[in-house]
Amino acid sequence: MRVLVTGGAGYIGSHTLIDLHGQGHDICALDTFDNSSPEVLNRVSEQIGAPLQHHAVDIRDGPGLDRVMAGFRPDAVIHFAGLKAVGESAQIPLDYYSVNVSGTGTLLAAMQRAGCGRIVFSSSATVYGEPAYLPFDETHACAPVNVYGHSKYMAEQILKDWQRATPGASVVVLRYFNPVGAHGSARIGEDPRGQPNNLVPFVAQVAVGRRDKVRVFGADYDTPDGTGMRDYIHVEDLARAHSAALNFAARHSGFEVFNIGTGRCYSVLEVIDAFARASGHDIPYEISPRRPGDIARSVADTSKAQALLDWRARHDLRQMCQSSWNWQSGNPNGYDAG
Ligand code: NAD
Ligand code: WQD
Repeated sequence: MRVLVTGGAGYIGSHTLIDLHGQGHDICALDTFDNSSPEVLNRVSEQIGAPLQHHAVDIRDGPGLDRVMAGFRPDAVIHFAGLKAVGESAQIPLDYYSVNVSGTGTLLAAMQRAGCGRIVFSSSATVYGEPAYLPFDETHACAPVNVYGHSKYMAEQILKDWQRATPGASVVVLRYFNPVGAHGSARIGEDPRGQPNNLVPFVAQVAVGRRDKVRVFGADYDTPDGTGMRDYIHVEDLARAHSAALNFAARHSGFEVFNIGTGRCYSVLEVIDAFARASGHDIPYEISPRRPGDIARSVADTSKAQALLDWRARHDLRQMCQSSWNWQSGNPNGYDAG
């Protein structure tokens, strides 16, 4: 298939481009580099051993999207482009609604004009909010507790309504749990701007000496060691889930939601310990107050993805930490070092 990848220079998009190319798809990336570096696409190109088509077009730019669609004629779109920082989303909510909600609508309208009816969308386990039961399955009620989560859930609703109104269209929503790790080449990985918000990139920067210590947000949760537990998923497994979702979309019309996780969860202290072993470095930490809005535990029921997408995660926590360390130690300043 010809696959247009919005947000293709981002963390998950870049890994997915490589997987898609490996599966024989023709790929084209679209990204404004608002939260990524153009160097990412050089590295993707290096990995696939071929030039990569790219357009620096904003997903909110309808005429720009029309030009890209007319030139590339995609059979499907994988839609990663968006803003993703929970804390920031409370400070600049209108930007989050503009990019994540309006941007998704603008993209769908352009797809419709171009006659493209397949889309795979990046959603998040954040849409569930506080668990009524665990593991989360896809029928769990959605009650997001932050602006970012609201914007993702609104985008899901737009996609659902668009699919219903568009005979033959196929929408696959993937709700990712906690993506971590890096490409096996150690040439591509997560390169957050400024201080990382997420645990694993923060731990990686402590291991490599860029930061002093990890702050553990709460050790008084109702979990075995008191720290928060999450379902971490290797980014290469996640990338592969997109290829599986595309195959599904090619065979089915309709609207389907899938959890993408491993079905296992680990505590903050277990992650720190696994990373220390993988890196061979001590990881100093201190117990700090809880971070507002965090839940004690999150874990996916992945049986639907296993049954309908024939996909399951292959990498364990050790491999996630090892690949993250290989990337971080080989590129201590991320993509900036060249
Ligand atoms: P990322 O920030 O690395 O990638 C997003 C990309 O979109 C960036 O390269 C950015 O430059 C681009 N972009 C932003 N606004 C744009 C716009 N208006 N037009 C075109 N491009 C634009 O994030 P990621 O971690 O790769 O996440 C990809 C998607 O997955 C996002 O939609 C995110 O919300 C979702 N997601 C991420 C996680 C996570 O923990 N990383 C978890 C669940 C869901
Ligand atoms: C994991 C655990 C923290 C940092 C977020 C978004 C979610 C999705 C993935 C985009 C928690 C603890 C963290 C630190 C810590 N993103 N922690 N010290 O909060 O599960 O999910 O990223 O869609 O929407 O909400 O991930 O990596 O921030 O936190 O103790 O410096 O690590 O409290 O228990 P989270 P995270």
